[in-house]
Amino acid sequence: MEINVNNTFFTGKFLLHLPSVDSTNNFAKNHIANSSPIDGTVIFADEQFAGRGQSGNKWQTEAHKNLTFSIIYQTSFLPATAQFLLNKAISLGVWAMLDAYFRLEKNKPIVEVKWPNDIFVNNKKIAGILIENTIAGMNLKHSVIGIGLNVNQCVFADGVNATSMQLVLEKSLDRNQILNDILQHIEKYYLLLKQQRNEVLDKEYLAHLYQKEKWTFYKKEEIVFEGKIIGIDQFGKLILETMTGKESFAFKEIQFL
Ligand code: BTN
Repeated sequence: MEINVNNTFFTGKFLLHLPSVDSTNNFAKNHIANSSPIDGTVIFADEQFAGRGQSGNKWQTEAHKNLTFSIIYQTSFLPATAQFLLNKAISLGVWAMLDAYFRLEKNKPIVEVKWPNDIFVNNKKIAGILIENTIAGMNLKHSVIGIGLNVNQCVFADGVNATSMQLVLEKSLDRNQILNDILQHIEKYYLLLKQQRNEVLDKEYLAHLYQKEKWTFYKKEEIVFEGKIIGIDQFGKLILETMTGKESFAFKEIQFL
């Protein structure tokens, strides 16, 4: 399949298309360590044999059917303490691309961002994001933004709560077109981040947040409790209202049930 990107200002203008790689994030990190990559470089793979997810999990996906790629951005403008804004911008870019595809459907599928940065459609995971930053002094230096998006995969392992664009739209899609669209949306939000339009990112992220303002069950250290998401703090912690008051949680501290 031919992959080329022609609708962005700089994201994906330099693109490496690999038939097979352990992980596009690993490849991107080595690329940063051994050269000075052009801002917006994209590493795209048809197959990953050791794809990585959040918290040391594996990202397993059918070869040639989905999108597995990493973007390298030069993020030295961003203080390390504000790095969650980058998660917001990227999540919103993926959210916006999917929403544009699904908006005109009869029973409009609900696209949401599950904190910190999974994308869900009708309560099932359709995309995952793994961001790995290098830091220099107080600021970030490079960010490797790894994205796995289920496009044309129709069968998932038992017990995996996942879906794909094809399952939602009931037709197969052109992966090159989806890549162009997703990069365009991501770049739009990334430029908002660069322009410090943080209020837009905060507002839109909250507007599309999964389970916001809904009482439901969460788990912390084997203790199940009821809570309601009411916001995200400046460091990206999840703020819940619970029976005992307001509490904030870092990623890994809390599990959605
Ligand atoms: C998650 O949901 O846990 C994050 C999944 C991120 C998967 C992508 S696929 C492209 C890039 N390379 C990797 O090894 N992981 C990310």
